[in-house]
Amino acid sequence: MCADTLSSPVPVITIDGPSGSGKGTVSQRLAAELGWHFLDSGALYRLLACAARRDGVDLDDASALADLAGRIDADFGFSENGEERVLLDGVEITRTLRCEDTGNAASRIAALPAVRTALLAWQRRYRRPPGLIADGRDMGTVVFPDATLKIFLDARPEERALRRFNQLNEKGNNATLDEILAEVRARDERDRTRATAPLVPAEDALVIDSSDLDIDTTVALILGQIHLKS
Ligand code: DC
Repeated sequence: MCADTLSSPVPVITIDGPSGSGKGTVSQRLAAELGWHFLDSGALYRLLACAARRDGVDLDDASALADLAGRIDADFGFSENGEERVLLDGVEITRTLRCEDTGNAASRIAALPAVRTALLAWQRRYRRPPGLIADGRDMGTVVFPDATLKIFLDARPEERALRRFNQLNEKGNNATLDEILAEVRARDERDRTRATAPLVPAEDALVIDSSDLDIDTTVALILGQIHLKS
């Protein structure tokens, strides 16, 4: 192994942005394309929210939540038909993990500094060779400030609500578009204005508005940036 390899950190590309910006799908596509690891940091906040509900821990009790974060066992994987399968302490919770209620609970606990600190080391452990695509809100600003490339993927709230609406409809949920738009705006407000690690682009992030871009175009755009850096 050459000295350069020994001294250079494992490369990370951060994809931050609000929910519905397409960052989840784009990040997974990039990870598959490059053969890199993938961190869905929102899933860790969601998982902790689920564990808190299960154990009757108050969503405002920062120290109990931080303590719980150190005890839970998560298993992120895929079922035989390729669908996401998440286990919390050995029990499957995939549907609950992805529902709107859990997203809102995750957003609430994510505003607590002690919770963010408790999840920091866990997130950084995903940084393994040959590289990591990290999807979240503060990947480029807090968790991986030395990332090779930082992307902030945004889109108009109306467009993000519509994407979420279509996604939920496919899964058989029946919330109205207006309800989802209201939730998108409320979650944005909380994520963008919280005191600790708010949802803002890192100073050195490339901001991409995906409102009028499809997934293929967005992925191609980011791959182009990666090749420029290498
Ligand atoms: O990406 P998501 O919808 O699964 O995230 C759920 C919530 O978790 C989101 O509203 C805010 C919070 N979150 C965060 O604060 N920081 C992250 N890096 C990821 C998610």
